[in-house]
Amino acid sequence: MIRIKELRKLFKTRYGTVAALQGIDLDVNEGEFCVLLGPSGCGKTTTLRCVAGLEKPDKGEVEIGGTLVSSSEAGVYVPTEKRDIGMVFQSYAIWPHMNVSQNVSFPLTQGQRRVPKNLVAKKVREALGLVQLNGLEDRPATDLSGGQQQRVAMARAMVTEPKILLMDEPLSNLDARLREQMRIELKKITRSIGVTTLYVTHDQAEALSLGDKVCVMNEGEILQIGHPHEVYSHPANLFVAQFVGEMNFITGKVTGTGQVDSPLGRLRCPVPPGCQTGKQVTLGIRPEHLTLFHPPNQNAEAVEGRIITKNYLGDAALLEVEAKGLNLMVKLPGDSDFTVGQQALIVLPPDRWHVYT
Ligand SMILES: Nc1ncnc2c1ncn2[C@@H]1O[C@H](COP(=O)(O)OP(=O)(O)O)[C@@H](O)[C@H]1O
Ligand SMILES: [Mg+2]
Repeated sequence: MIRIKELRKLFKTRYGTVAALQGIDLDVNEGEFCVLLGPSGCGKTTTLRCVAGLEKPDKGEVEIGGTLVSSSEAGVYVPTEKRDIGMVFQSYAIWPHMNVSQNVSFPLTQGQRRVPKNLVAKKVREALGLVQLNGLEDRPATDLSGGQQQRVAMARAMVTEPKILLMDEPLSNLDARLREQMRIELKKITRSIGVTTLYVTHDQAEALSLGDKVCVMNEGEILQIGHPHEVYSHPANLFVAQFVGEMNFITGKVTGTGQVDSPLGRLRCPVPPGCQTGKQVTLGIRPEHLTLFHPPNQNAEAVEGRIITKNYLGDAALLEVEAKGLNLMVKLPGDSDFTVGQQALIVLPPDRWHVYT
């Protein structure tokens, strides 16, 4: 439904040229919810704006629903209003001088997507129903809470029934609790209407929970594309491992097949084939894959440590454990009885290590 090929975008600024996109390739299938995830400045918004037709790429192609809408090579550039898209931004960009219904009906009464007058009310009603704002039609936009304004922006983006929905950090202005509620709702809504969605966020939890497909970006490039579970359980490189979820990192040196010497001692771990003895590597392991035992305990894959801090989270507890001069984060069930100052054995399961060269 959306095809992005070799997309490049440069910005000329007073300080020099910024390569915002350095050759992006991405396919979003029909009905798919695809999330662009990455740190601030990595090129997420620029990618979205190129798809929307708000930014003219220097190189590459964009296709929407099988139609070429942007190609520097072929000299094609379809303007925004002729692309079949709905957009939602972080700043809701709803009109303060209009009421809810006027805001939502705006794209139906102006411009390319106008519909016959007698259909407007029905479409507005349906769109407001989707975001559960029925009954607020006559409310001035300024009398709405942040969450309600965001819903109006969503209804307005969807009222024309666009082929694709583009959303740029739409939840980041909401408080934490509302953000989580809206996250669940947003997924339900886009599912129920089957709209193809390209969604931008810098929040990895949001990306993992929303995406059918997550696309991790850094410095104008895509580093990994995959199902959220794939990205979380097999980060393709050190950057993705650092950016998505929590991970402990230690450095070491390969000393044999499946074996690395590290400050924690000799560790068994899945060293990639072709990685020679003597090679420096970084090992990563997630806090939830480490477990603690009270000593003494005979376990070949364990090291002794001491609990430095404990952060109780209700359903879980995050402990910082010092072992051989390193601090490791360990995630335990909330009811575990380990306390600060105690000695503990940290079990390091060999198959849970990620090895980066
Ligand atoms: N209009 C612009 N003029 C100059 N530089 C820009 C412009 N828009 C974006 N950039 C730069 O391009 C890079 C990518 O920006 P952006 O796509 O907004 O990142 P993100 O949305 O991931 O935070 C950044 O270095 C940013 O400063
Ligand atoms: Mg942005």
